[in-house]
Amino acid sequence: MKAIIFDLDGVVVDTAKYHYLAWRKLAQELGFTFEKMHNERLKGVSRMRSLEIVLEVGGITGVSEEKKQELAERKNGYYLEMISGINQSEILPGITEFISRKKKAGYKIGLGSASKSGGMILEKLGLAGQFDVIVDGNLVERAKPDPQVFTKAAELLGVPCSQCIVIEDAAAGIDAAIAGGMKCIGVGARDILKKADIVVPDTEALLSI
Ligand code: BG6
Ligand code: MG
Repeated sequence: MKAIIFDLDGVVVDTAKYHYLAWRKLAQELGFTFEKMHNERLKGVSRMRSLEIVLEVGGITGVSEEKKQELAERKNGYYLEMISGINQSEILPGITEFISRKKKAGYKIGLGSASKSGGMILEKLGLAGQFDVIVDGNLVERAKPDPQVFTKAAELLGVPCSQCIVIEDAAAGIDAAIAGGMKCIGVGARDILKKADIVVPDTEALLSI
C-alpha cells in the first residue's frame, strides 16, 4: 500500500455534528424534527442528496428545483456559520499523530471529501500542509457512493487505486472505496460499516493499526 486517502467529516474532524445541527435547524423551519436516528443516511452524501433525504424524512414532496437550491443554500449558510470558528481543537483524537506517523513511514496522504468546504476546513485546522493532494466537493461531479472523489485523489497522487487505503466513517464512503478498487478502514459502528476491510471503533484506535 502506498497512499492513504482520508474522508474529512467524521474522520479528520468532528464536523458531522454541525452538518446534522444545520439540517435539523432547516427541518425545524419546515415544520418537523430531524432526529439523530436519520442522520446516518446523510453521512458522506452530497448536499443535494442530503436535502432530498431530509425532505423525504419530513414527508415533504413537490418541492421545485429552485426551492431545493434555496433550501440547500440556507442549510449551507447555517453550517458555515457553525464552523466559522473551527480550529485544531476539533481535530478528532489520534488523527494528527496518525497522519504524521504514516507520512514518516512513506505513505502519500490525500483527502477525498464530498464537502465543498473540505479544503477550507483543512486550512482552518492547520492540516492542509500535511496532505499531498486535497480533493473536495468542488473538484468532482459525482458524489459518494460513486468512487470519483477517491479515484481522482489516487490519480493526482500518482498511485494506482489498488495501492490506496481509504479511511471512512460513512457507509456511502465505504461503498465508494470498494467501487474504486481500494482497501478501506471504517471508523465507527461495525454493523453500519461491515463492508470495510477493517473497522475500528474510533479515530484513536487507528493508532493501533
Ligand atoms: C460530507 C458529509 O463529507 O460532505 C455530508 O459527510 C455532507 O454530510 C457532504 O452533506 C457535503 O458537504 P457540503 O459542505 O458540501 O454541504
Ligand atoms: Mg464522513
